[in-house]
Amino acid sequence: MTSDEIRKRFLAFFEARNHTVIPSASLVPENDPSVLFTTAGMQPLVPYLLGQEHPAGKRLVNVQKCVRTQDIEEVGDATHDTFFEMLGNWSLGDYFKKDAITWSYEFLTSKDEGLGLDPNRLYVTVFEGDEDAPKDEESAEIWKSLGIPEERIYFLGKEDNWWSPGDNGPCGPDSEMFYDLRPEVGPITNKEEFKKADDQSRVVEVWNDVFMEYEKKDGKVTGKLTQQNVDTGAGLERLAMVMQDKDNIFDTDLFAGIMKEVEGLASDTKKQRIIADHVRTAVLLISDGVVPSNTEQGYILRRLLRRAIFNTDNKEIPEESLAAIVGAIVFKYEAVYENMQNTSQFIQVIQKEQEAFKKTLDQGLKQFEKMGSDGISGKEAFTLFTTYGFPLELTQELAQEEGIEVDEEGFKKEMREHQDKSRSGAEGKFKGGLADTNPKTIAYHTATHLLHEALRRVLGDHVHQRGSNITSERLRFDFSHTQKMTDEEKQKVEDMINEIIKKDLPVSFTEMSTGVAFESGALGEFGVKYGDKVKVYSVGEGDDRFSYEICGGPHVESTGAMGTFKIKKEEASSAGVRRIKATLE
Ligand code: ALA
Repeated sequence: MTSDEIRKRFLAFFEARNHTVIPSASLVPENDPSVLFTTAGMQPLVPYLLGQEHPAGKRLVNVQKCVRTQDIEEVGDATHDTFFEMLGNWSLGDYFKKDAITWSYEFLTSKDEGLGLDPNRLYVTVFEGDEDAPKDEESAEIWKSLGIPEERIYFLGKEDNWWSPGDNGPCGPDSEMFYDLRPEVGPITNKEEFKKADDQSRVVEVWNDVFMEYEKKDGKVTGKLTQQNVDTGAGLERLAMVMQDKDNIFDTDLFAGIMKEVEGLASDTKKQRIIADHVRTAVLLISDGVVPSNTEQGYILRRLLRRAIFNTDNKEIPEESLAAIVGAIVFKYEAVYENMQNTSQFIQVIQKEQEAFKKTLDQGLKQFEKMGSDGISGKEAFTLFTTYGFPLELTQELAQEEGIEVDEEGFKKEMREHQDKSRSGAEGKFKGGLADTNPKTIAYHTATHLLHEALRRVLGDHVHQRGSNITSERLRFDFSHTQKMTDEEKQKVEDMINEIIKKDLPVSFTEMSTGVAFESGALGEFGVKYGDKVKVYSVGEGDDRFSYEICGGPHVESTGAMGTFKIKKEEASSAGVRRIKATLE
């Protein structure tokens, strides 16, 4: 079964069970600075899991693009990749364990509507219980009622069977499904054998049903949510591997075409896989507006591309190979996701980064030569990495040629310190992301709408939102506009917004179909694909209406107490896009 067919069957299966299909959100989270990328299908749905009403209803299903880079070192083995697609169905305070588990089982095993997998090769895990939540006997009983025998159901602790998106937000125990890739070895009959089979990649996790009825704050489970939710995630790459009888994801139809174009660039399979995976992720990130840079999402994109280039035998992806690889990637995804048609732009961005890397490669080499002949310290390797874009592997290879050693532990220590610093910085500043209901953050959501509208009134209708990022301390807004704003224009925008704040206009929302929203003049974000139904927020009513924009919220009830709006910075963000940072004081 092809990956296209798996996606199609999944959506149809849940549509037939009254779920509404919603589009994939962008890989770059909207208004959620707590994470760099969308790492799970539930992430864009956090406000709804916490109780807000979703315009498409209580049962949703989709295929979500995800990027996770924490296991980047593992890419090249059978199952790790940095971009993946997650099939997910959601109950927002509607059905719970019984339906979720029954449908998972049916989809996996039904020949007509699902994947037709062999039920005798399925193993499941459930939560063993602790001080936060009881042993999940209920889920185990449901599995048994479906025919999974007791010796194939294992109770495990939080590290295996509890899922949360981070330190804050909705979370809960989960039940995971595994498929046996080597049934000829004989049945697995107890937990120890199962754990061993998992370590040896004999079983592969294909789906996770999370029963989200708890909430976490600052890393601790604090109690129950007001509603019981279901969040599920099935990795498309792994399902394709199982369905196509392959022992690794790179042999599935999702990767085969890309691998073919990469083959000639590196002599060993692991390197080929790294190049295929990293360029694929890079293209998907570029399609969602990320450009290589030294910070945040742009930095990860840069690292992926340099790692891909470094893993080629000649430290270069020749232009014709690059075009062929990008072509193979676009071919796989252009019918599935938005903004995937810009092949020449993808090639251009990657090519430019390749040229930049070539330059630092030379400077970095000079620097390397100046470094000690008795070995490279952790700090030096870290400088080569951060300043000259040298992945650790490159430094190690060079050192080997010179017959000297790199202090790998020292490098990792520097790296951890750096990550801890940026993590605690991020957490300090951005606590909670979409789950953040801090009044200051909410005021910035509303200020963002006011800014969008004010920019259009002052600069013209060509202004469209191209990105937004909100913390409890400031807003950041990217918009299409080519010139630097003059002081006068900035003043006009500030005055207009402060006037609206002074008027204390009411803020309200109406739900409507997306077509009606656009026809009635609602603003949306450029390039974003909305579901069938949306919420449209108005600031002011009747003749006094100032802004009218599609948004999930939340917003202030009226503009009066927002503070004074001030533009702190106006600068170029990328070609044709300007960026404003502003505060409410
Ligand atoms: N959110 C769950 C996961 O990512 C389904 O595994």
